[in-house]
Amino acid sequence: MPYSPGLKDIVAAETRLSHVDGEVGELVIAGYPLEEIAERATYEEMVHLLWHGNLPDKVDLRRFKGELAACRSIPRSSLEILRKAANERRSVIDAVRMAVASLPSTDDESDARTLVARLPSVVAAYWRLLQGKQPIEPDPVLGHVANLLYMLHGENPGEDRVRALTTYLNTVIDHGMNASTFTARVIVSTRSDFISAITGAIGALKGPLHGGAPGPVISVLEAIGDVGNAESYLREKLESGERLMGFGHAVYRVRDPRADVLSRAARSFFADEHDLYTLALHVEKTAIKLLEEYKPGRRLQTNVEFYTALLLKGLGLHPDLFTPMFAVGRVAGWVAHCMEQRSVDRIFRPESRYTGIESNRWTPVEDR
Ligand code: ACO
Repeated sequence: MPYSPGLKDIVAAETRLSHVDGEVGELVIAGYPLEEIAERATYEEMVHLLWHGNLPDKVDLRRFKGELAACRSIPRSSLEILRKAANERRSVIDAVRMAVASLPSTDDESDARTLVARLPSVVAAYWRLLQGKQPIEPDPVLGHVANLLYMLHGENPGEDRVRALTTYLNTVIDHGMNASTFTARVIVSTRSDFISAITGAIGALKGPLHGGAPGPVISVLEAIGDVGNAESYLREKLESGERLMGFGHAVYRVRDPRADVLSRAARSFFADEHDLYTLALHVEKTAIKLLEEYKPGRRLQTNVEFYTALLLKGLGLHPDLFTPMFAVGRVAGWVAHCMEQRSVDRIFRPESRYTGIESNRWTPVEDR
């Protein structure tokens, strides 16, 4: 049996949720090109699209928004976990993982709504606790994204900020068989519950090779500081064998289509010519040139995380919130995959190739 490290090029599932064409640089979400839908739809519309296969009409949308809004409050036991985690100054993504793990599981349908509706509440509550502030109760009148910003900052956000964050969450809502989605599907394939699946998915997401990249992108931009330093800084990283965060992708061999959508959304938050955005454009150009020099023919291009960092920073969010925000967007995709996996009802059980010793013999401990 052939061995494919990382299951590269192995089709592990069929899905109607999203299609990634890494050669052309195309992402299709339930039939819609990303560029067509991400900057227009509300987050609730995107969730409905993934879960039901169609965009809701006005009546369905109102009902769906109401159903989600009704599930936003965090149970007291989960809030207690967040308070303890804040006392220990645990990272935001670890606290989110702990709080999600503590949510009671009932049935798939209500778990699905609970996970999508409560994740923003968990992130916002924990962030405030870390700042020594009290969590803010969700406002059921506000939409999903406006309410998230309200719970974080305690004031109603402007439309431009809601739109920009919505575009981000829509952009990352689903992306084929990535590592965290696969994790969720493996867990559900054992007939385990959705809460367990999303807890595992968060664990997979936080790694620096997956959803943990945008924080380091900002650190790199800040360390470079000025366009004049970009080339020497990046060269040094590559010389020492480090990876440049925000570049390269397991599937895309051309520019990640999500980068353009996020770059457009980020631009308006950086008005000044000499600011981070201008620096980022220069760093991007230099990084791509150097990657071709150091890794010729690998076709390493900008990925989603580079402009995620810019957009979320432009929205005034701290880098510690970047990966949790990714989870807030992706959770609806994870849940949609859990639903698909549930309907397949086939446990994942790949093979492994044994490379260990063939014929050891037992030796009592006193003779070893
Ligand atoms: N910087 C430097 N070298 C790189 C980078 C990078 N960003 N990305 C890949 N390479 C190198 C690999 O080490 C490999 O080198 P080799 O052929 O000499 O062994 C070569 O380029 C080819 O790598 P790929 O097969 O194209 O990449 P792979 O599938 O192994 O990894 C990954 C993909 C993990 C995303 C990688 O590009 C990476 O680590 N990027 C930086 C981290 C990052 O931005 N992650 C976010 C990805 S997007 C997301 O998950 C939401």
